[in-house]
Amino acid sequence: MKVLVTGGAGFIGSHTVVELLNDGREVIIVDNFVNSKPVVLDRVRKITGKDFKFYQVDLLDRDSLEKVFAENEVDAVIHFAGLKAVGESVEQPLRYYHNNLTGTLILCEVMAKYGVKNIVFSSSATVYGKPKCVPIKEDFPLSTTNPYGETKLEIERILKDVTIADKDWSVSILRYFNPIGAHSSGLIGEDPKGIPNNLLPYVAQVASGKLECLSIYGNDYETRDGTGVRDFIHVVDLAKAHLKALDRTVAVKGIDYYNIGTGNGYSVLEIVKAYEEATGKKVKYKFAPRRAGDIGECYADPTKAEKLLGWKAEKDIYQMCKDAAHWQELNPNGYED
Ligand code: UFG
Repeated sequence: MKVLVTGGAGFIGSHTVVELLNDGREVIIVDNFVNSKPVVLDRVRKITGKDFKFYQVDLLDRDSLEKVFAENEVDAVIHFAGLKAVGESVEQPLRYYHNNLTGTLILCEVMAKYGVKNIVFSSSATVYGKPKCVPIKEDFPLSTTNPYGETKLEIERILKDVTIADKDWSVSILRYFNPIGAHSSGLIGEDPKGIPNNLLPYVAQVASGKLECLSIYGNDYETRDGTGVRDFIHVVDLAKAHLKALDRTVAVKGIDYYNIGTGNGYSVLEIVKAYEEATGKKVKYKFAPRRAGDIGECYADPTKAEKLLGWKAEKDIYQMCKDAAHWQELNPNGYED
């Protein structure tokens, strides 16, 4: 099977490409390196001992994208490419809407033109907004609180309409919870630009001495210890879900939605403790006010993915912390140029 992976040099994309190659699938990566580095591709080759085709193409560049489809007989697309920083999306809404929505529209138009109608889309638990209760099921009401989330939800709706209009299309929407960790080799991992926004990269950089102290945003939520609760999932488990989703996408037409999480919620304080236990390193922290837009609790009911995809997360929170720390240790400054 020939799989085109948009955003294949990114954090989740690169881990998924590793799993695809290890599983013997042919991979074509399209990436514009807006949020990733060329060296990732060498690392993926090193881990797998396998090669793949690569095109440095922006999805907004329709002519170049058409060339990729003209040169390759693509069976299915896994679509990761997109801007993903919540705060930045609030500051630059036009850039986010243009890039994420127009990029996806062009991708789908080109796919249709070349008769490629299987797609796995990288969505997010952010589409559940502030959920009425936890664990979250796929049929919960949808809403968003920022432009980034809005683009994910809008793309879900676009893809749904595409499957209604043309019964040959087949779409799987994966709603990720909080991906963390890194490949066990320590060769690929999360490489945030500047000071990290997300919890785990921040914790890892405090533990390694690169940053001074973690601010825990809010200790007055209605949770076990007052700090926010999330469903952290190992990026390699998440990557594996894409292979299962791919097979079902090709086998079953129409659209379906899957929560990709472990089903377990951990609080920020529990993560700090797990990181310290898993690595033997100290994580200095202080409490700070709640972060605007954050919710108290968010974790998945992942039973649909287990039933329909035959997928279940396997790695525990200690493994996630260990692998994040290993990546941080080997790459203190991420993927340097
Ligand atoms: N947190 C801190 N200090 C930090 C960073 C985070 O206390 O320095 C807390 C947050 O307040 C929250 C938890 O850690 O309670 C997790 O925060 P993250 O920023 O790591 O993740 P979010 O749950 O806010 O957001 C993530 C992705 C989004 C996605 C969302 C979907 O970053 O892209 O999950 O649920 F939309």
